[in-house]
Amino acid sequence: TCSATGVKVPRNFHLLEELEEGQKGVGDGTVSMIIGPPRTNYENRIYSLKVECGPQYPEAPPSVRFVTKINRNGINNSSGMVDALLAKWQNSYSIKVVLQELRRLMMSKENMKLPQPPEGQTYNN
Ligand SMILES: *[C@@H]1O[C@H](CO)[C@@H](O)[C@H](O)[C@H]1NC(C)=O
Ligand SMILES: *[C@@H]1O[C@H](CO)[C@@H](O)[C@H](O)[C@H]1NC(C)=O
Repeated sequence: TCSATGVKVPRNFHLLEELEEGQKGVGDGTVSMIIGPPRTNYENRIYSLKVECGPQYPEAPPSVRFVTKINRNGINNSSGMVDALLAKWQNSYSIKVVLQELRRLMMSKENMKLPQPPEGQTYNN
């Protein structure tokens, strides 16, 4: 399934535990969230992502796009598309793995101190 959790999650999912968990899939599998990791320039920001699984999924990677603006290596700065990570896609991966990896990469040396756009901006497409 394309969903991160396989569980239907209501819209009001801002429970503290879930925020602390750092990421959350939403029931229909098309919108997911990552909470910026502590001690990085992404700290406490909430990033929305659109995840779409084509008919070839999981043989082919899903398309993953940041809705919330972010300045980070491997992410197209005009569309928010995630390119780099998905080149390494394996059919054993899940959306959850992708979200965890995206969050982990926010903590990498090359990314953690990049200047970020003002909070709350989104890509236009
Ligand atoms: C970023 O995305 C835009 C729109 O899809 C595309 O025209 C552009 O070539 C991309 N840039 C890079 C560096 O991939
Ligand atoms: C987007 O990335 C390109 C290539 O890395 C860079 O030249 C350009 O200034 C960036 N644009 C923005 C708005 O950051």
